[in-house]
Amino acid sequence: MKSVLKDDSSGHDWWHIHRVRKLALLIGKSEDADLFLVELAALLHDIDDWKLVGNMDEKQKAKSWLLSCGIDHQLAERICGVIEGVSFKGAGVNTSTNDLVCRVLQDADRLDAIGAIGIARTFAYGGSRGRGIYDPEIPPELHTDFENYKKSTTPTINHFYEKLLLLKDQMQTKMGRSLAEQRHEYMLRFLDQFYAEWNGEQI
Ligand code: NI
Repeated sequence: MKSVLKDDSSGHDWWHIHRVRKLALLIGKSEDADLFLVELAALLHDIDDWKLVGNMDEKQKAKSWLLSCGIDHQLAERICGVIEGVSFKGAGVNTSTNDLVCRVLQDADRLDAIGAIGIARTFAYGGSRGRGIYDPEIPPELHTDFENYKKSTTPTINHFYEKLLLLKDQMQTKMGRSLAEQRHEYMLRFLDQFYAEWNGEQI
């Protein structure tokens, strides 16, 4: 994964994987999840992500890598099923799951999308897709279907309302909820400061 993602500059680089792996193992332990599955799914969770892979034919990387390592077919399918369920697909699109490993990984991945690191990654991602920072004339949009969410080209600040500020309430583990709380507060403070500076005010 390190060699595949080392040159990414959209916020989905190797260090994102590294942080998600650590968080997923921490949360997984607290939930008594199968840590072997958690760790493998965490390491491979972005290699076939829709944001990074445009070509559907390439959506088999995780599976072929697992098979090439001698992981049996059923287990490889199981891990790919977890990965499939991880991605955020729009404000109104329900991605909650009963699969414990998937819940753990979703929380870990979403925690890395909020707080100070989340802010940095969001602007990096926006820049990589040619999005502006902010445009007060373009209001945020709460996408209820995945196709429209994927096509969205709105400024990066809108992404806070379309995704980042919603993640706290979508956490599915106890530890995820408690870690999300603090990161969420930090984003609210960032936005207050951002608008104050935008308007030339003091906070
Ligand atoms: Ni990720």
